[in-house]
Amino acid sequence: MVDSLKKPKFEEIRPGVKVPAKETIITPRFYTTDFEEMAKMDISLNEEELQAILEEFRVDYNRHHFVRDEQFNRSWDNLDGKTRELFVEFLERSCTAEFSGFLLYKELGRRLKGKNPILAEIFTLMSRDEARHAGFLNKALSDFNLSLDLGFLTKSRKYTFFKPKFIFYATYLSEKIGYWRYITIFRHLEQNPDDMIYPIFSFFENWCQDENRHGDFFDAIMKAQPQILNDWKARLWCRFFLLSVFATMYVNDVQRSGFYESLGLNAREYDKHVIEKTNDTAGRVFPVVLDVEHPDFYNSLEKCIDNNEKLKEIAASNTPAPIKFLRKLPHYVSNGAQLIKMYFIKPIRVDRLEGTVK
Ligand SMILES: [Fe+2]
Ligand SMILES: [Fe+2]
Repeated sequence: MVDSLKKPKFEEIRPGVKVPAKETIITPRFYTTDFEEMAKMDISLNEEELQAILEEFRVDYNRHHFVRDEQFNRSWDNLDGKTRELFVEFLERSCTAEFSGFLLYKELGRRLKGKNPILAEIFTLMSRDEARHAGFLNKALSDFNLSLDLGFLTKSRKYTFFKPKFIFYATYLSEKIGYWRYITIFRHLEQNPDDMIYPIFSFFENWCQDENRHGDFFDAIMKAQPQILNDWKARLWCRFFLLSVFATMYVNDVQRSGFYESLGLNAREYDKHVIEKTNDTAGRVFPVVLDVEHPDFYNSLEKCIDNNEKLKEIAASNTPAPIKFLRKLPHYVSNGAQLIKMYFIKPIRVDRLEGTVK
């Protein structure tokens, strides 16, 4: 008999449909943009590369990849307690992030149709990939007797508006970091097959190639708009996006180190590897990258993690709200100070490295 005490209870909208996780500053975001500006964009500077990328998307290498095979046909009750909770959370966060990509790309494909045909078709084909990824993750949730109501999520989430150039910086990084996250887990499990606690990870190798191609598309579109890469504002914004993406991931993952432990990974080492690789990759298109080897970089991130621990403790205490706020304040201030400190670590200019392979 299954010990029901070992199975964490999740809040449900209706039987088997999980209440989406609360939105916080670090949950996956949903984006919207200025569709008119995007439609009017002149891509002629890099049209050849964009056309080649479109051809690749049309080939649809992963057409037959996302098929659940016999590996899934068993019970997962062996994943219990905290591991099960962290696992479900991982599936939910990943599904939400993939679905958010789907919604944005789908809408872009729809709004650009007839106005910017190459971009419209690329966005539509990328939304096809993201729909597959989100669907596959949602199906995985059903192995744990849960699912996400994606229609409900579409209507209930708040959308963050970003001008097209910010959409490019942010989605480029999220695709590339997604690639490095998936491939790093895949390579680790390839070396350590005993840590393969659930078969979804064996799909990551081909899966992450989709993310890599999506990232390459944003690389190509930014190169068609050099004005968003070659001035001082671009350098400041690229630093900002690199830092926000890296800091969010690190704080998130270290808080969930139990999940990575269950795969035989150390969350900090895993994240440091992913950050280093994504930072290097970003140097192929961004004019600057971060000096992630500077000792202050991870020291500051660790301070943010300490602050967040304290903030959680205060939030869980029985203190009256105004006192709670006063106790939280210094930790918020400290987080802000750490982020500013990291932002001002001298970045590495990569747009001046003449003659190197970018
Ligand atoms: Fe994806
Ligand atoms: Fe993607």
